[in-house]
Order: sequence, then C-alpha cells, then structure tokens
Amino acid sequence: MVNQRHNPTAPETMMRILQINASARLQGANSSHLANAITARLQAQNPAATVELLDLARTPHPILDAPSLTALFTPAEQRSPEQAARIALDDALIAQVQAADVLVLGVPMYNFGVPVQFKAWVDAIARAGVTFRYTAQGPEGLLTGKKVYVAFARGGMYRDTPADTQTPYVKTVLGFLGLTDVSCVFAEGLSMGPDAAAKALADADAQIAQLLP
Ligand SMILES: Cc1cc2nc3c(=O)[nH]c(=O)nc-3n(C[C@H](O)[C@H](O)[C@H](O)COP(=O)(O)O)c2cc1C
Repeated sequence: MVNQRHNPTAPETMMRILQINASARLQGANSSHLANAITARLQAQNPAATVELLDLARTPHPILDAPSLTALFTPAEQRSPEQAARIALDDALIAQVQAADVLVLGVPMYNFGVPVQFKAWVDAIARAGVTFRYTAQGPEGLLTGKKVYVAFARGGMYRDTPADTQTPYVKTVLGFLGLTDVSCVFAEGLSMGPDAAAKALADADAQIAQLLP
C-alpha cells in the first residue's frame, strides 16, 4: 500500500525519487530505459518530484572486501583516514536511500543474479543498527515507508518459474531492509531476436502503464 506521502495521485506532495541504474552498460541498457520510463511517469504524476540518479556503471561502488570489512568493524574513532573514507562512501549511499520516498531500480539479470554493481550497493546500504536491526522477534528493516519499483531486464524468460533466482533475492533483501512495498516490471526475452526484444519492451511499457495509470 502506497502511503499518502508517496501517493502518485496526490501531485501536490513533494516526492523524492531515487533512480538507480544497475546495468554495467554505459549506453543502451534496457533496464535503465525502463527505469527512466517509470521515473518519467512518476514525474508526470508528481510535477514537484525531485529525481536523483545513481548510475552504478558510471560511479561503481567499491566491493565489500577485507579492508572494507575491517574498516566497518573498527570503532569510528579508531579508524584510519583511509578506513574513514571507505565507510563514508557507504554512509553516503545510506543517507541517499534514507532521504528517498520512492526508489526506481533498473536491474539486469546477469548469470541468474544481479550485477556486481547492484550487489555492492546492497552491501553498502545493509548496515546493522542503521538500516536493519535484530530484535527478540527477529530482524527488523528500518528503511520503512518507501515505495520501490524494480525494472528487470533479461535475455531469457524466467518470470514465475523456479529458474527466476533473481526476483526472490531482490525482494528478500529489500524486504529485510524494510523495503516491502515493491512493484516489479519485467522485460524478458531480450536476447531472443529482434521481434522478441521489441515485444519484451512493449510488454514492459504496458506493465508500467498499468502500475502507474
Ligand atoms: C554478463 C551477462 C550475463 C547475463 N546473464 C543472463 C542470464 O543469466 N539470464 C538472462 O536471461 N539473461 C542474461 N543476460 C542478458 C541480459 O539480462 C540482457 O542483455 C539485459 O538486457 C541486460 O540488461 P541491460 O540491457 O539493462 O544491460 C546476461 C547479459 C550479460 C551481459
């Protein structure tokens, strides 16, 4: 359920949209094309909306490697300047997602999963005590009250089959962080010839129109 603050039918509200393009492609990415289309519809329905774009192909986030983990688990006041700088990069992505009302994610399927750029973004924003916490009742996501649109682009066709290993992962990790209001758009069969690709994009456009009439 979209809350009032994010309600696309309430154009007078100031909606802060964060669009994240996760394709590794600098140009011609289908997932970015669809994410653009979603953002454009949101903007048309909410003329006062602001849009921030995080293009992970142009500004890839560093992966969670050994030095990063060491920095993360070093108390802030004991971090070296290099460690503090590394954690500041994650802090910036956390602040960015916290500030957003609506997330629009363009996510290609790579090898049945997500691009490494998207995984690095997830690793950056999943911070215990900040974006999730554990209670006696189990984990609790802290990024609540936001609407999420995910545009998936795929060469093959996997939607609603056991081979779709990507959608459950994305929905699970977003939900773990409190991002539970997720609507998905699928462009599938993009590698199955020009006709199939054109149909996939037209289908995805129709899904977007249905989601944001
Ligand atoms: C490295 C790589 C791995 C891919 N793996 C898969 C895959 O596992 N399943 C699939 O259906 N398509 C796969 N594809 C096809 C992409 O999902 C498809 O080209 C999609 O349009 C990519 O998104 P983009 O256009 O936004 O970059 C792969 C493409 C690349 C470049």
